[in-house]
Parts: sequence; C-alpha cells; structure tokens
Amino acid sequence: MPALMKFLHLLAAIAWLGGIGFMLLALRPAAAQLLAPPQRMPLIAQVLQRFFALVWASIALLLLTGLSMLLSTGMKQAPVGWHLMLGLGLVMFALFGHLYFGPFRRLKQAVSAANWPEGGRRAGQIATLAGINLMLGVLAIGVVIFII
Ligand code: HEM
Repeated sequence: MPALMKFLHLLAAIAWLGGIGFMLLALRPAAAQLLAPPQRMPLIAQVLQRFFALVWASIALLLLTGLSMLLSTGMKQAPVGWHLMLGLGLVMFALFGHLYFGPFRRLKQAVSAANWPEGGRRAGQIATLAGINLMLGVLAIGVVIFII
C-alpha cells in the first residue's frame, strides 16, 4: 500500500511538472514564433483547457496519496522535509486555483471576444504563475529528499 501511494504520487508530480516544462519551454516559444495571435491564442487556450484537467486530477492524487503517506507515518514522526512538502504543496494548489479562476478564465473570455492584446497579457500571467509553481515543485521534491 505505501509503495502504491508513492507510485501514484510520483506519477501525478511527473504529469504536472512535466506538463508545465513542456508548455513553457517547448509549446509557448514555438507557437510565438510560428503563429499570429488569432491562431496562437485559441490554440493556447485549448491546450491549457486540456492540460488543466490533468492538473486538477494530479492535485487530487498528490493530496490524497501525500496525506495518506504522511498520516500513516504520523505527523509527529514524519521528517521535517515531509512537513515542508505539505506546506509547499498547499501553496502550489492555491496558486493553481488562482491561475485557473483568474487569468485562465480571462484568457478564455479574451479569446471569445477576439481581444488578442488582452489574451496575450493573460497568457503571460499564466506563464509566470506556472513558472513559479514549477520552481516550488522542484523545491518540494528537493526538501523531501534532502531534509530528513
Ligand atoms: C499535499 C501535499 C503533499 C503531501 C502531503 C506530500 C507528501 C509526501 C510524502 C509523505 C512523501 C513520501 C516521502 C518518502 O517516502 O520518502 C512524498 C514524496 C514525494 N512527493 Fe509529495 N507531498 C505533497 C505534494 C507534492 C507535490 C506538489 C509534489 C510535486 C509536484 C510532490 C512530489 C513528490 C515526489 C516526487 C516524491 C518522491 C520523493 C522520493 O523519492 O522520496 N509532492 N510526498
């Protein structure tokens, strides 16, 4: 059971962080180079819509499996790194919630209204917040491995 929890936890983390890396380092720059805003913005909004469904599932899995590992060991016995991972994870979840219901909702509205400057601004905010979450995710993995 603990091995299954850790397996699912790892899969969820890989899906989330790997997806952000792909979006920021591969899809976004390539789309910016090849496509004009009227083609690029709807593409980015559609890709994010699908990816964010995966992120919601990852968040649910990370929370359930993480808490299951933490509570089965006991909060008092758990290493400091595990507590830090819980804290960083909660910040990441909150940041994603803000990104989803704030800038992402606005991006979709901008695309519906064909307001490309506004869409570009919102896509930029999403990229910034996702970049912060990528760094926090790397930090969360670092603390659980290096801080006993
Ligand atoms: C509610 C939030 C979270 C809790 C309670 C939690 C808890 C835990 C626990 C208890 C472990 C087991 C450590 C071990 O067996 O040594 C773990 C491992 C891990 N967590 Fe989390 N976690 C959370 C969020 C996250 C997030 C947001 C990420 C990254 C996106 C993440 C990535 C990982 C990874 C990659 C490992 C495996 C590290 C190893 O090989 O030991 N976790 N987590």
